[in-house]
Amino acid sequence: MILLGHNPQGDPILLPIEPDQKIAVVGISGSGKSYAAGRMVEDWLACGVPVGILDPVGIWWGLRCGADGNPNAGIQIPVLGGMHADAPLPEPEVAAHSLARLGQSSVFDLSEYKMEDLQLWSARFAENLMGPGNVPESPAHIILEEAPIFVPQSGSLSKHNKRCRYAFAHLARVGRNRGYGLTVITQRAAAVDKNVLTQCGSLLLLRIAADIDRKAITSWIAENAAGITKEAYDTMLKELSEAKPGTGWLWSPQWGGGFTKLTVAPRRTLHPNARQRGQLLAPLSWNPYSPTPTSAWQHIQQVGKWALRGSLVCGGIALAWYGIKFVLYALGTLFLLSVIARGKKR
Ligand SMILES: Nc1ncnc2c1ncn2[C@@H]1O[C@H](COP(=O)(O)OP(=O)(O)OP(=O)(O)O)[C@@H](O)[C@H]1O
Ligand SMILES: [Mg+2]
Repeated sequence: MILLGHNPQGDPILLPIEPDQKIAVVGISGSGKSYAAGRMVEDWLACGVPVGILDPVGIWWGLRCGADGNPNAGIQIPVLGGMHADAPLPEPEVAAHSLARLGQSSVFDLSEYKMEDLQLWSARFAENLMGPGNVPESPAHIILEEAPIFVPQSGSLSKHNKRCRYAFAHLARVGRNRGYGLTVITQRAAAVDKNVLTQCGSLLLLRIAADIDRKAITSWIAENAAGITKEAYDTMLKELSEAKPGTGWLWSPQWGGGFTKLTVAPRRTLHPNARQRGQLLAPLSWNPYSPTPTSAWQHIQQVGKWALRGSLVCGGIALAWYGIKFVLYALGTLFLLSVIARGKKR
């Protein structure tokens, strides 16, 4: 089970480990969304669930340190790209394959990408997850930090906006049948493509202030479940507008719960702030993305391959040279014979 937090009576709020579910985490800046999503990711990773984190902010490297910043007390998850990279960001095809087929969890840190490159990389990643040959070995979960970058409801962030939005909307719509789940993290409910938001079976609501976002949530709830009293709903909305960081409500009809008020449980790993940007990470004990050292036998094989290629090329050139010579001799002979034949006729 995932320990998300505790209710006001102090009872634990546990979620089943179902990585193929979709969850939305909504709240204004500083309300504790990334912290809460990190809490869930810690438990998924502890249970061996493959998790791919798309991080355009550059904070998820904190999983590699203990909550106090101890670089030796974190989780062994490769950070790819960004300021704390264990290895550069791989091609999206490689990233999708390693998550789906090899079950390799990774932080894909996109924080140093221009928006155009970020959306293109992400679109190709999502398309490949849904492409042939990438049915996951076991259900995998994808985290979209600052989801409106990937699935905006309106506006265009780059020329790849539409492709990116479509790829993730497709993943949200039919990905569960393949074994993909999604966590959508957003400051504004109204800023996320409503086709994606309304696919989410659970909603973690932290502090929400804007009226337009309340409306987006109301329509989400209306699509997901009936039967909630107006009083309960109004009370929740009122409390949400004043909620402290890390406190809010979980609405989870898919796991049999209605509204549950909660405080998110403390993290085991670091939730970094701007001052901790320069922090060094302990090297990974094993990094699947770094090139593996080549053995002597692999060297011999490589030399053999090059020798074979070289001799094929030389053979081809020699063959072409003698072929051309043969054709020229043949044409010359034919010409001479025709001259002789004409001379005899006269
Ligand atoms: N459950 C919690 N327990 C303790 N501290 C928390 C909790 N939730 C959030 N915080 C603290 O609140 C601050 C803001 O949290 P967080 O960065 O997760 O906000 P956010 O909603 O993701 O903001 P933004 O949208 O700007 O990224 C952080 O300093 C974090 O340590
Ligand atoms: Mg955040």
